[in-house]
Amino acid sequence: MDRSTLPEINYDEVYLFDISSKVSFWDLPKEVVYELFRDGRTASRFLELKIPDLFRDFEYVDGSGYDWLKELVKKVEGKCYTKGGCNFAPSKMVGSSRKVKPDEVQKHIEENDLDYILMDIREFPVIRMRFVKGSELIKDHPNCKIGKSKKMSKKYGRYSDNKPRQEYLSWLVDIFREAKRVLEDDGHLFVNMGYSNIDPWVGMEVGLALREDWILQNHINWVKSIHVNGKTSGHFKPINSKRFVCPTWEHLFHFTKDGNVEIDRLSIGVKYEYYEANIRGNNTAETKPNLRDKGNCWFVPDETINSKELRGKHPATFPVKLVEDCLKMTGRDLGVVLDPFMGTGTTAVAAQIMGWDYIGYDIDQDYVDFATSRLNRGLTSILT
Ligand SMILES: C[S@@+](CC[C@H](N)C(=O)[O-])C[C@H]1O[C@@H](n2cnc3c(N)ncnc32)[C@H](O)[C@@H]1O
Repeated sequence: MDRSTLPEINYDEVYLFDISSKVSFWDLPKEVVYELFRDGRTASRFLELKIPDLFRDFEYVDGSGYDWLKELVKKVEGKCYTKGGCNFAPSKMVGSSRKVKPDEVQKHIEENDLDYILMDIREFPVIRMRFVKGSELIKDHPNCKIGKSKKMSKKYGRYSDNKPRQEYLSWLVDIFREAKRVLEDDGHLFVNMGYSNIDPWVGMEVGLALREDWILQNHINWVKSIHVNGKTSGHFKPINSKRFVCPTWEHLFHFTKDGNVEIDRLSIGVKYEYYEANIRGNNTAETKPNLRDKGNCWFVPDETINSKELRGKHPATFPVKLVEDCLKMTGRDLGVVLDPFMGTGTTAVAAQIMGWDYIGYDIDQDYVDFATSRLNRGLTSILT
């Protein structure tokens, strides 16, 4: 690939390059090579070394850690972001024992007037490349894994939300396998997974991984904000992006053991828009209540946006009503709900409101204390 075949380079645009003609991996099958490149350290170092090869105009300055992109008259650091997320640390520094502090990265960018080339192996042998202004790197990549940034993957108290993907999936499969063991045969498992623009498959991958043990009986979309007929309802966290629209919904997977567990759809039903039209023939107001299934798209505004105190500084709480609707949908008046990731105790609060028993745990004692105090305050303060 020479410079003449390259498109004009613009910041923030994604370029795909097929490198099959540029490299050889003996006769290793594509799957094996791809597997090797899933390791950020291998992919990062390899791609870094490919920069001068792919862009002959760059003067590669090894050792100092920078490349020099003459055309843009900017220093450019080649970095790799792997499928599991962004790793902006120089390849030599990517690894569990090496951390880069975000403020140091920022200083480094400013002092050296750096821009970045972000790369990953998209689908071997296709690589994906994007030029990013150094000044915008950290701002535009809130999920990047650099040290203990507040802007990296979700910042929980004690829990670091950055396991490699396979490890993360197996971990969840194991946890929910244990849940299955203690669940009644006609019980329910609800799993809420957020949606991330940077990592758009994660929710679906979790859903697929759980398929090993569970049947997906309903896939509900929890909508936090929606615009209908000229009116916006609900809130969402605004993002600053030239590529993405703001995520305003999350996955809510409803799993059961056999996919055939009865639910009470009308317990969370909504009124008909044209009820009168349904009252005809054998249908009377007595035989046909003004209530219908609300479907698998649930609009539940995210109360956490304006309730910092309730949230207890937790980054990923869900609203009490979301859990209440799940519990109601089971059609049971009473029951026991177990939440292995209790956080601020939202599930327990919903259970308390509905008179259910609850079991919850969290790895972070601060969250447990907060949840306990929230529950001890009782219904009056929760509801006001
Ligand atoms: C998405 S949050 C749950 C928030 C909760 N739904 C709420 O409304 O507050 C996930 C929680 O799982 C906890 N966690 C992570 N790993 C854990 C583990 N191995 N055991 C128990 N809790 C864990 C984290 O501390 C975090 O509070």
